[in-house]
Amino acid sequence: MALTRKVPLLLSLSFTFILSSASTESDILLSFKSSVEDTKNTLSSWSNTSSIHYCNWTGITCSTTSSLTVTSLNLQSMNLSGEISSSICELSSLTYLNLADNLFNQPMPLHLSQCSSLETLNLSNNLIWGTIPDQISQFGSLKVLDLSRNHVEGRIPESIGALVNLQVLNFGSNLLSGTVPSVFQNVSELLVLDLSQNPYLLSVIPSDIGKLDKLEQLLFQSSGFHGEIPDSFTGLQSLVTLDLSQNNLTGWIPQTLGSSLKNLVSFDVSQNRLLGSFPNGICNSKGLASLTLHTNLFNYSIPNSINECLNLERFQIQNNGFSGDFPIGLWSLPKIKLIRAENNRFSGEIPDSISIAAQLEQVQIDNNSFTSKIPQGLGLVKSLYRFSASLNGFYGELPPNFCDSPVMSIINLSHNSLSGQIPEMKKCRKLVSLSLADNSLNGEIPPSLADLPVLTYLDLSNNNLTGSIPQGLQNLKLALFNVSYNRLSGEVPLSLISGLPASYLQGNPGLCGPGLPDSCTDHKPRNHNAGLTTLACALISISFAFGTVILAAGFFMFRRYNMRKCEMGIWHSLFFYPLRVTEHDLIMSMDEKSAVGSGGAFGRVFIISLPSGELVAVKKLVNFGIQSSKALKAEVKILAKVRNKNMIKILGFCHSDESIFLIYEFLEKGSLDDLISRSDINLHWGVRMRIAIGVAQGLAYLHKDYAPQLFHRNLKSRNVLLDADYEPKLTDFALDRILGEAAFQSTIASESAYSCYNAPEYGYTKKATEQVDVYSFGVVLLELVTGRQAEKAESADQSLDIVKWVRRKINITNGALQVLDPRISNSCQQEMLGALDVALRCTSVMPEKRPPMVEVVKALQSLGSRTCLPNLELSSSLQHSDPM
Ligand SMILES: *[C@@H]1O[C@H](CO)[C@@H](O)[C@H](O)[C@H]1NC(C)=O
Ligand SMILES: *[C@@H]1O[C@H](CO)[C@@H](O)[C@H](O)[C@H]1NC(C)=O
Ligand SMILES: *[C@@H]1O[C@H](CO)[C@@H](O)[C@H](O)[C@H]1NC(C)=O
Ligand SMILES: *[C@@H]1O[C@H](CO)[C@@H](O)[C@H](O)[C@H]1NC(C)=O
Ligand SMILES: *[C@@H]1O[C@H](CO)[C@@H](O)[C@H](O)[C@H]1NC(C)=O
Ligand SMILES: *[C@@H]1O[C@H](CO)[C@@H](O)[C@H](O)[C@H]1NC(C)=O
Ligand SMILES: *[C@@H]1O[C@H](CO)[C@@H](O)[C@H](O)[C@H]1NC(C)=O
Ligand SMILES: *[C@@H]1O[C@H](CO)[C@@H](O)[C@H](O)[C@H]1NC(C)=O
Ligand SMILES: *[C@@H]1O[C@H](CO)[C@@H](O)[C@H](O)[C@H]1NC(C)=O
Ligand SMILES: *[C@@H]1O[C@H](CO)[C@@H](O)[C@H](O)[C@H]1NC(C)=O
Repeated sequence: MALTRKVPLLLSLSFTFILSSASTESDILLSFKSSVEDTKNTLSSWSNTSSIHYCNWTGITCSTTSSLTVTSLNLQSMNLSGEISSSICELSSLTYLNLADNLFNQPMPLHLSQCSSLETLNLSNNLIWGTIPDQISQFGSLKVLDLSRNHVEGRIPESIGALVNLQVLNFGSNLLSGTVPSVFQNVSELLVLDLSQNPYLLSVIPSDIGKLDKLEQLLFQSSGFHGEIPDSFTGLQSLVTLDLSQNNLTGWIPQTLGSSLKNLVSFDVSQNRLLGSFPNGICNSKGLASLTLHTNLFNYSIPNSINECLNLERFQIQNNGFSGDFPIGLWSLPKIKLIRAENNRFSGEIPDSISIAAQLEQVQIDNNSFTSKIPQGLGLVKSLYRFSASLNGFYGELPPNFCDSPVMSIINLSHNSLSGQIPEMKKCRKLVSLSLADNSLNGEIPPSLADLPVLTYLDLSNNNLTGSIPQGLQNLKLALFNVSYNRLSGEVPLSLISGLPASYLQGNPGLCGPGLPDSCTDHKPRNHNAGLTTLACALISISFAFGTVILAAGFFMFRRYNMRKCEMGIWHSLFFYPLRVTEHDLIMSMDEKSAVGSGGAFGRVFIISLPSGELVAVKKLVNFGIQSSKALKAEVKILAKVRNKNMIKILGFCHSDESIFLIYEFLEKGSLDDLISRSDINLHWGVRMRIAIGVAQGLAYLHKDYAPQLFHRNLKSRNVLLDADYEPKLTDFALDRILGEAAFQSTIASESAYSCYNAPEYGYTKKATEQVDVYSFGVVLLELVTGRQAEKAESADQSLDIVKWVRRKINITNGALQVLDPRISNSCQQEMLGALDVALRCTSVMPEKRPPMVEVVKALQSLGSRTCLPNLELSSSLQHSDPM
């Protein structure tokens, strides 16, 4: 490869440079500066005309002893680019060089190994690319090497084992591949080893890592580790943080691990395929010598034993296949804050001694087989804010104090076997979400729930609750209130009827109210009046006032004058088309029947038929309340002004404090993803090209022609909708502007930790860029060329990720032909290969190598102009594939 040839060349150049110069330290620094591009002029103090002594220049530290020599250079976060010149190594006392968070775009600067005193080299978060050369061993004096968050690829060379002075080795967030060599036993001073977030690694964990008895942090999360956790790990006597989460590890936890956990603060092996039971008695006995705890409720004597797990704060083993009894000692550790073990097959109990866990904040043990009562001790843990234990076998009555923690926010005990009444809950004033669905609770809904000021989600469905729905609940801003399938009766408070889907009330034959099967008219006259008020409200809101014409091009805005308090809370709406619909209509028609799909990360889509017969698609987003109503409107207007034949139209929106409804035009053919996933439909190549070009044009418009510049940020075939003529339109674009950046990112992340539509760099930059969109487009184009869904494996030997799958295939002879969709006629091969080439460029790992969308459009159009079947009739474009 070009790269491996280039490295020795750089080396020899820099040697000649050193030989030809012998200069003062300020000259050396100026010479270093001359090869660096300093666009922000942060190095302005570095100047031979300045009166400032070079030891006082930005980023420089000199030794304080004897002569003034430069020992440290800290130039992090200065937007520097250009070349890292080896001239810096002429500073004979330089021990510390930090160039982190800059824009250096080059291979690993091997020539810095000439810096004979260098102990710390920090190049984190630059654009370093290429492989780690074998000559890395020349950095023998290094104690700290941080190459994290770059684009370093290829294998980790065995010569890394020669860096015997290393204390910190960080290769996290790169593109390393292959196996990790077993060469660490001589790197015995190592304190931190970070190989996290290298998704292309494919390696077992080298067992000699267990010999690193000084190691404090082992960070291997989100990489490609498989196989078992080596038994040798019991040798990691100093370990403080162990993170092996999100790999592909199998097998059991080493049974003797417990003895090595003396210093452990964080243990995370979540999201692997680990099995078996936890070592018997792990963390079971505390060194709290015969601590006797006097509370009102219990007296405990805890036996004196080994000092195991006493420092443990975070224990995360969720999403594995663990079984057997959950280690009971964990529940009463003095420093434990977080216990996550959901989605395993643990049995066991939560003991009353949980009351000793005075720091406990979060418990998530959903979807296991715990069987016990909910212990009284739980209510004594005053730091607990989340307790989620759904889908287990908890039985008996809820203890009266179960919600006594003053910070408690989330309780999920749904799908258990709890019985008895729901206790009064008065102390947990921070409670946001309470789910007790699917138990056998009886009695009435406690009216005191209405006094919990921030309660937002309340799910009491599928129990045996009786009595009426407390009127006070109307005062809460409930986003979800599900009491379906109980034995409730009486009149439903009005705002609960109008604000929420009817399905949340069903299965309670005794309930009545307007819109329900029993309208209450036979009951008290008060209800009747209230019903009429709602009706009047709805009627008023049907009238529209025509707003001002904003754009001569036909961009109308129809503002309704009903922004007032109705029975159902305050709604604000803005229509960009004359839609004859009210919020009330919208909300009432959003139920399971009108919902399409299971809903993406951002919320469900409902197809709603307007009174006029028109269909619209309504997307319901959670309003995180980050933006004021005014700001929100301004943002939606920006999106609604997007007018391009390949972008979906936003017809209007309305929002309340809890929800935002975006009303989009409805397209009958559904999403590209649906078409690709159906084996009975084979889109002709001409149609696929039309879709590809349309999508590319839509993106090019957002990136280049629209002001302000927008990024789609969520492009995938599911967000490419098709009209009757297979003209694509992009939906779900730029939702970050509506939700705010933080909420947008956490929502995306909640959908899936890893999506193959996301560019590799997005994993750590999280930045919206054109190149990130271009990458996603490349993935969609690969789907069109191969006929495969991007994230679906057809058999066990295929990778989940279409980009990896294609790249692996095309490396072999005739590989490119093998990835083309076999259902398309050979006469289209040339065009398909052309499109494949564009897709590969768009999905390049290096963002700067991806072409801008404008170029992509041109490239695709030039292919399309010599399309293989020019006289294509659209109606014949749907060819049902022949059963062979
Ligand atoms: C300062 O540096 C500039 C460019 O490196 C050089 O042209 C100039 O002669 C230097 N001035 C002095 C006083 O050394
Ligand atoms: C650097 O600046 C400090 C404070 O301004 C001053 O005391 C010190 O003497 C300067 N160092 C040199 C080497 O000029
Ligand atoms: C670096 O550049 C980015 C983008 O141009 C800018 O947001 C940031 O503030 C710059 N940082 C510094 C230290 O100038
Ligand atoms: C390298 O620099 C980055 C940015 O300042 C910092 O976060 C990181 O901790 C440094 N690495 C080491 C090993 O100190
Ligand atoms: C470790 O060091 C010993 C003694 O210097 C040497 O014999 C051995 O080959 C080294 N092991 C590795 C894996 O480098
Ligand atoms: C995990 O390993 C199994 C076989 O050991 C393999 O089939 C599977 O694809 C791997 N999963 C990932 C995400 O690498
Ligand atoms: C706990 O022990 C204390 C002192 O030994 C005693 O006064 C108290 O009654 C005991 N409480 C219970 C519930 O046994
Ligand atoms: C429960 O956990 C099992 C694995 O133990 C998993 O297969 C299943 O999907 C989980 N169920 C839910 C509802 O998450
Ligand atoms: C409660 O748990 C159930 C089952 O695991 C889950 O489906 C539901 O979404 C959870 N509810 C909340 C509000 O987290
Ligand atoms: C609900 O209560 C009725 C009457 O007490 C009882 O017959 C029924 O079994 C209960 N159902 C459940 C699911 O507990």
